[in-house]
Amino acid sequence: MNSATQPRTQWLGRWGFLLAATGSAVGLGNIWKFPYITGEFGGGAFVLVYLACILAVGVPVMMTEIAFGRRGRGSPIDAIRRVVNESGGSSAWSLIGWMAMLCGFLILSFYVVVAGWSFSYLWKMLSGGLSGENVDDMVAVFVANNENPLNLGFWSTLVTLLTMSIVGRGVQEGIEKNVSWMMPGLVVMLLVLIVYGMFSGGFGEAVTFLFSFNAGSLSSEGMLAALGHAFFTLSLASGAILTYGSYLPKKASIARTTLGVAAADTVVALMAGLAIFPVIFANGMDPSQGPGLIFMSLPLAFDAMPLGTLFGILFFAMLSMAALTSSISMVEATVSWLCDNKGLSRRAAAWGTGIVLWLVSTLAMLSFNLGADWTLAGKNVFDWLDYLTARWMMPLGGLGTVVLAGFVLKSDAFREELGLSPLPYTLWLTMVRYVSPLGILVVFTDALGIYSV
Ligand code: PHE
Ligand code: NA
Repeated sequence: MNSATQPRTQWLGRWGFLLAATGSAVGLGNIWKFPYITGEFGGGAFVLVYLACILAVGVPVMMTEIAFGRRGRGSPIDAIRRVVNESGGSSAWSLIGWMAMLCGFLILSFYVVVAGWSFSYLWKMLSGGLSGENVDDMVAVFVANNENPLNLGFWSTLVTLLTMSIVGRGVQEGIEKNVSWMMPGLVVMLLVLIVYGMFSGGFGEAVTFLFSFNAGSLSSEGMLAALGHAFFTLSLASGAILTYGSYLPKKASIARTTLGVAAADTVVALMAGLAIFPVIFANGMDPSQGPGLIFMSLPLAFDAMPLGTLFGILFFAMLSMAALTSSISMVEATVSWLCDNKGLSRRAAAWGTGIVLWLVSTLAMLSFNLGADWTLAGKNVFDWLDYLTARWMMPLGGLGTVVLAGFVLKSDAFREELGLSPLPYTLWLTMVRYVSPLGILVVFTDALGIYSV
């Protein structure tokens, strides 16, 4: 079967894929997760390893995933199977696709809780419920917001409903227009915060914290977290980028698009760090406070700066939008697989997925109130979902993807698909054959404690 002749929807405008992929990549991972795990793992060394992982693993994996999607024209499971079969390889490789699909789903089930925080903070900003004098006040606001499962559940359910209704209508529509004004808007908001931070007294300390590389200060666990976050922040190994790639027209350049998305994502993450840490240091907060970090710190800045309420409203509005353009991409693999294989309409596939998702996400939401004690090895449901996906499923899926592309496929499949001239092609091949798999393996085995005698 020649998969390339199958009709498949394609992105609308010339910038369609770039905008959608950037929308998927830039999200809570950059503004919520990056700062808080950087804080948890002590700053500079973590940032450096994270940047290295983006370049050595993230970029080659993203190119590979887009190539799989476009050549196989389907959800991760179908696309990988078709591309492998074309080279005479075993269909068992499509297990990578199954894992990716599951991973995207599991990520969404805790992502809606965090997106729910963002929406609820937008509401607090609008209704004047977010003023406070000091850190303690803001911590109290965050705790109170979590305490009542009906309140927190309302917000995560709202995010689930919004996500599924957008996905049910088809992600292409509307996404391009939205992302093209929202991304620049988000960058402007971060700039406002950075400029405020420069006058707040914590800026120097923040820069030192983020960029001073203290070799040896990063634990093996921190290295694995940095690797996992490189996957998470670029939406890799979760079906998102691969499925979006399946809608990519043949003439678009995969390499150039990948570099654009990775650059935009990295810039936003670093800007978020520069926006948030000055507030944290100026207010004497502990950078390793965990998932609530930005929600406890940023409102202090908005409270203190001129026009703060207006900026706060704009910030949380755009953060919520950025979360939605990411959340819709997490179930695109599942929905597209259900449509292609089970004959469901997009609408039915989206709502069916949404119901199961709502159940899992409710368990994640309860981790902040009723289910705080439902722990296993010290982790609650929310922590487990994050831990399993970012630390295990994504690096493993990424490893499978590069090994498959580098060693199993016949070489002209991707030479053709990537359309690169010999030198960049060799560079890509070297990365997927040696650099990325070795990098992943070393970080992995190190985290398993193999090198610590
Ligand atoms: N990249 C998104 C972010 O940084 C999260 C994401 C993960 C999106 C996996 C899709 C798939 O917020
Ligand atoms: Na990201």
